[in-house]
Amino acid sequence: MDALTKIHVRPMIEQDLDVVAAIEQASYATPWSREHFRDEISASYSWPLVAVDEGSVVGYLCLMCLFEEAQVLNVAVSPTLRGRGIARLLLERAVVLAREKGAKRLLLEVRASNSAAISLYERIGFGRTGIRSRYYDHTEDAVLMEKPLKEIP
Ligand SMILES: CC(C)(COP(=O)(O)OP(=O)(O)OC[C@H]1O[C@@H](n2cnc3c(N)ncnc32)[C@H](O)[C@@H]1OP(=O)(O)O)[C@@H](O)C(=O)NCCC(=O)NCCS
Repeated sequence: MDALTKIHVRPMIEQDLDVVAAIEQASYATPWSREHFRDEISASYSWPLVAVDEGSVVGYLCLMCLFEEAQVLNVAVSPTLRGRGIARLLLERAVVLAREKGAKRLLLEVRASNSAAISLYERIGFGRTGIRSRYYDHTEDAVLMEKPLKEIP
């Protein structure tokens, strides 16, 4: 069986927070806190997701939907399990969810140096729409990306 077919995506719950926070710590120089993720679980405009492999959380994605715009706020995969299509699975679910919530476009911003993430987003159909100059730590540019969410006939 294809390894990816046994991974499923579901809403993030409180019990996931220890593992989510550990993946976040391993993924970013300035990680979100556990409380930040807890706020994402409880916020009415927020739809955090986890990818689960045999009962273990292996990645997550935080999606915000406000009226016609949705935004991917965070996505990360356990370092040892990258390159297996897990982030793609999470993003594909986020696209479906954003459409269901009525969003017309899905937005995100990413560090200009993060070529793995930029390739991932381009693979899913995001295009570059602009640059926020020296956005990160007053040093690194943010690349703004958008995927239009066309109506499915
Ligand atoms: C970016 C990240 C989420 C990708 O997760 P992943 O599960 O390894 O990604 P996938 O296996 O689903 O890859 C899907 C596509 O992304 C691209 N991609 C992923 N990792 C890549 C890499 N290291 N180099 C180049 N392209 C890459 C490829 O286009 C890939 O498609 P392909 O396998 O058909 O070529 C992961 O590297 C991560 O957690 N990084 C740290 C956190 C981070 O930077 N998040 C993004 C912040 S905006």
